[in-house]
Amino acid sequence: SRHVALVPAAGSGSRIGAPLPKQYLPLAGRPMIAHTLAALCAVEAIEKVFVVLSVDDPEWGRHDWSWLGPKLVPLFCGGATRAASVLGGLRAIAGELGQGDWVLVHDAARPCIAPWEVQRLIGELEDDEVGGLLALPVADTLKRADGHGRVLETVARERLWQAQTPQMFRHVMLRRALEDAAEVTDEAGAIEAAGLHPKLVQGDASNLKVTWPVDLYLAERILEGRLE
Ligand code: C5P
Repeated sequence: SRHVALVPAAGSGSRIGAPLPKQYLPLAGRPMIAHTLAALCAVEAIEKVFVVLSVDDPEWGRHDWSWLGPKLVPLFCGGATRAASVLGGLRAIAGELGQGDWVLVHDAARPCIAPWEVQRLIGELEDDEVGGLLALPVADTLKRADGHGRVLETVARERLWQAQTPQMFRHVMLRRALEDAAEVTDEAGAIEAAGLHPKLVQGDASNLKVTWPVDLYLAERILEGRLE
C-alpha cells in the first residue's frame, strides 16, 4: 500500500493575533508552511503531499514552491473547520488512491516535524488494522476548572497523552469516519467515534503546534538548530 500526506492549511490562525494566516508567518527565513511541506516531501515513503488551502487563499500564489519538487499538490477546497478541510481534501484525492492506501494528516501549524519521525510512524503502523498518531505523554499536572477559573479537581495524568500529528489512517476508513463524526478536533477522534482504537506512537516535544506567539520563537530555535 502507498502513503500520501494531507496538510490542512485553511485556517485563519486568529489566536496568534497576526494579520497573515498563521501558516504563512515568517519562520527561519520562510513561510511556516514551507518547513512543514519540506519535511513531508523529504520522507521517501510519501508519494504525494496534498495541501488543503482555503478557496480564497491570499498567499499561496505569492510564493515559489517549485523547490519542493513534484510531490507537492495544492488543493483549494478548505472548509469552515479543520475536519471539513480534511474531508474536502480526502474527497478531492479519492480518485488517485487505492483501497488500502494510507493518508497521513499533518497540521500546517506543526513546522518542526522531522522526516525521521514521520518515517518511524509509518514503520510502526504499516501492518496495523486501524492506524494511529504521534502523541506525547502529558508532563504537566492537569486541573479541571469550573466556569470561573476555580479548580474543581486534579485530573490524574497517568495514561493521558497529547495528540500530535501526523495521524495515519487508511483513506476510506478515515473518510467514512469523518463523514459520520459530528464535532471532532482530530482524525483520531473520528476513528474513535467509529468505535476503533488508534495506536499511540510516542513522538517528540519538538513537534509543537504553533498556537501562541511564544511558539513562533520556540519553533524558530528548533528549526535553526537542525539547519546548523
Ligand atoms: O487552528 P489550529 O491550530 O487548530 O489549526 C490546525 C490546522 O488546521 C492548521 O494547519 C490550520 O491551517 C488547519 N485548519 C484548516 N481549516 C480550518 C481550520 C484550521 O485547514 N477551517
